[in-house]
Amino acid sequence: MLKFMDFSPLSCFLLLTVLFLDGTTPLQFPQEVTAQLSNHTHSSSPAQAPAPISSPRVPALFIIGDSSVDSGTNNFLGTFARADRPPYGRDFDTHQPTGRFCNGRIPVDYIALQLGLPFVPSFLAQTGSVDDMIRGVNYASAGAGIILSSGSELGQHISLTQQIQQVMDTFQQFIITMGEVAAKNLISNSIFYISIGSNDYIHYYLLNESKVQSLYLPWRFNQFLARAMKLEIQNLYTANVRNVVVMGLAPLGCAPYYLWLYESENGECVEMINDMIVEFNYAMRYMVEELNHKLEGANIVFCDAFEGSMDIMKNSDRYGFNVTSDACCGLGQYKGWILCISSDMACSNASGHIWWDQFHPTGAVNEILADNIWSGLHVNMCYPMNLQEMVAQNAND
Ligand SMILES: *[C@@H]1O[C@H](CO)[C@@H](O)[C@H](O)[C@H]1NC(C)=O
Ligand SMILES: *[C@@H]1O[C@H](CO)[C@@H](O)[C@H](O)[C@H]1NC(C)=O
Ligand SMILES: *[C@@H]1O[C@H](CO)[C@@H](O)[C@H](O)[C@H]1NC(C)=O
Ligand SMILES: *[C@@H]1O[C@H](CO)[C@@H](O)[C@H](O)[C@H]1NC(C)=O
Repeated sequence: MLKFMDFSPLSCFLLLTVLFLDGTTPLQFPQEVTAQLSNHTHSSSPAQAPAPISSPRVPALFIIGDSSVDSGTNNFLGTFARADRPPYGRDFDTHQPTGRFCNGRIPVDYIALQLGLPFVPSFLAQTGSVDDMIRGVNYASAGAGIILSSGSELGQHISLTQQIQQVMDTFQQFIITMGEVAAKNLISNSIFYISIGSNDYIHYYLLNESKVQSLYLPWRFNQFLARAMKLEIQNLYTANVRNVVVMGLAPLGCAPYYLWLYESENGECVEMINDMIVEFNYAMRYMVEELNHKLEGANIVFCDAFEGSMDIMKNSDRYGFNVTSDACCGLGQYKGWILCISSDMACSNASGHIWWDQFHPTGAVNEILADNIWSGLHVNMCYPMNLQEMVAQNAND
């Protein structure tokens, strides 16, 4: 069977042979063949992404984070933070729930396709064989925060530190299987995408856990989070990681849950929360700048999801969104009171919505953000460069 993951010259040769033998098939190379290929891939393995046509721009994409990029980790955990039931995934390629907290694709799906890679499998969903991991692994777990205990009231999750430990285990396996030099090549040329921090607000700071608000002002709290993130990136660097994308936080104060909780009028965002998010992003961006100076050969970019998202909110008409504050799926004011747990709670068509559920944007928003990360298509939100430039620089090194 021609599987998407082993898109090898041999498979292509076999397919071409089949096409030649079938005398009725007009062969117009290459469009016809690539169309047939992706069609065949779709029908034979519906769980896979559309086939990347070109060869990958980097060896692999590794993902660390929370529900913004979880692709199925929490399906294997005992937690309320799961997205493995409809209506989640209803606009995804497979039209099935996968564990993604979205109606459609999450940002890293778009990024993987831009890089010429398949959708990245979740660490817990693959077999553990190196063949399954050399194009990338997704360690992200919904509910996870930078602080170990953030989100623990939801049940199990894999925290940032635990995810980094899983990354190190994967690297060990690479070294054992392919040898130190090949493993180092793979690791240092791949992209590491980190998207985490929302739960340190949602499930920790804003809940005033352990009296944190009396101990830390938001600014100090953000310094603390940035320092923790810095240590983790340095650990990755020591393990030969060189290319890192650090995602900032989206405007959480505009999420339907907080519009409901703070009884927003006319969908006005909660400024107090957004101010903290702006500070978080500032602290992370500064930290990334410091690391780029300190770590030789490191190529770390910070992408400000707040800037990209605010551009979408302010110019929602231009982007084709006509519902800017209500979630598509949920209950209560702004559909922000109760989380999305059944298809009855969902709007019929999410395409005009910015928000999919209480906390997560729709696939349409994820695509816009991913285009910005890749090339700054709508707004430049990555510093000091976008991902496309980072990949080009990596190829020249
Ligand atoms: C793809 O497959 C569908 C159904 O299997 C078929 O109707 C369609 O014509 C195919 N497209 C191409 C480009 O072969
Ligand atoms: C946070 O909790 C502590 C201890 O219960 C309390 O003294 C403090 O006022 C709370 N802070 C806020 C902003 O609610
Ligand atoms: C948004 O647009 C869709 C499609 O044009 C329409 O059906 C829907 O009623 C609109 N919603 C609002 C709140 O205007
Ligand atoms: C949702 O609405 C958009 C725009 O009105 C339309 O293009 C799209 O086909 C609709 N999707 C579904 C699943 O009905």
